[in-house]
Amino acid sequence: MKIAVVGATGLVGRKIINLCEKYFDSDVDYSFFASSKSAGSELEINGNKIIVQELNDDNISNFNISLFSAGGEKSKLFAKKFLDKGSFVIDNSSAFRMMEDVPLVVHGINEEIITEKTMLISNPNCTTMGLVMALKPLHDEFTLKSIFPTSYQAVSGSGTKAVTSLEEEIGLGDDLTPDYSDGFYERPIAKNVIPLAGTLLENGYSDEEMKFVNESRKILSIQNLIVEPSNARVGVKTGHGTFCSALFENNVDVDEAINLISKFEGIEYWADRLATPLDAEGQNDVLVSRLRKGLSNDKILNFWVVSDNLLKGAALNAVQIAKHVSTL
Ligand SMILES: NC(=O)c1ccc[n+]([C@@H]2O[C@H](COP(=O)([O-])OP(=O)(O)OC[C@H]3O[C@@H](n4cnc5c(N)ncnc54)[C@H](OP(=O)(O)O)[C@@H]3O)[C@@H](O)[C@H]2O)c1
Repeated sequence: MKIAVVGATGLVGRKIINLCEKYFDSDVDYSFFASSKSAGSELEINGNKIIVQELNDDNISNFNISLFSAGGEKSKLFAKKFLDKGSFVIDNSSAFRMMEDVPLVVHGINEEIITEKTMLISNPNCTTMGLVMALKPLHDEFTLKSIFPTSYQAVSGSGTKAVTSLEEEIGLGDDLTPDYSDGFYERPIAKNVIPLAGTLLENGYSDEEMKFVNESRKILSIQNLIVEPSNARVGVKTGHGTFCSALFENNVDVDEAINLISKFEGIEYWADRLATPLDAEGQNDVLVSRLRKGLSNDKILNFWVVSDNLLKGAALNAVQIAKHVSTL
């Protein structure tokens, strides 16, 4: 089997490489692609050093599976070229997520919609992915009507440059002022919370907030799901957290809800310890804590969910999908 990792030198790409070692046999033939800047550098997998190639038209061969995490523009330019050579393409960017004929897959929720003819598969937005993992077992039991999620998104969700910028800002210590303007974001992020994640759209919501709306509906197959999102960026390196208030058609029961979450593969309910981004970093499982019944209504559950945005938010889900398609 031949696997291509596009964006191999990035935060997500490097995690994909680590996970491929665990999920696939050691005889897989790997090719790693990145920009011209990284061409010629080496990345290791299964004890072998592989030379990173520049992504260009001349070095695309016939892979079985290609995992893309080099940004939406590169996906739009190159995914079709890999597809045309017969590869499954699993794309981490938002380029194809809302296309009707492209499945948006969270492994553990809806991977059964992939067939051997579905060659292009989109990996959902990292914040949405953690949230829908918690919502799915609750929806199956109580029937979801609306959600009010507020996310606290980590800096690594914006890639390598953002993490470097966070580290530089931390290094400034008390010299970091509200007027600091050399960082990755429009406001300083170290020791701070920016009440906007992503780019502001004309409707007053950010593109990240609209991903909560559109992608939750598509993944959970609830076209009329009401979503009222607010997304913030916080001075955390890795681990996106979300407080969510969820309204169901039916009365809820907290013990039953905790039991449903605990039984669902890929999530853990933490009753005795608050789950924080630091706990989630490096964990495959999505963590849920502070689940409570609504104060105003027996049909509401309020809870906190946190997950490693580079793992279940990106690389882990992509590699789980890759493993799934390898068995089709
Ligand atoms: N970070 C997350 O939590 C997360 C979650 C879900 C989805 N995603 C998506 O995954 C993608 C990558 O994110 P990331 O966080 O890994 O970003 P990153 O750390 O900035 O890495 C970007 C990768 O893209 C490569 N690249 C840049 N320009 C290229 C070009 N012209 N040709 C080929 N490769 C090029 C980079 O190669 P060089 O090293 O050579 O520049 C690097 O390998 C993005 O689409 C992002 O939206 C990220």
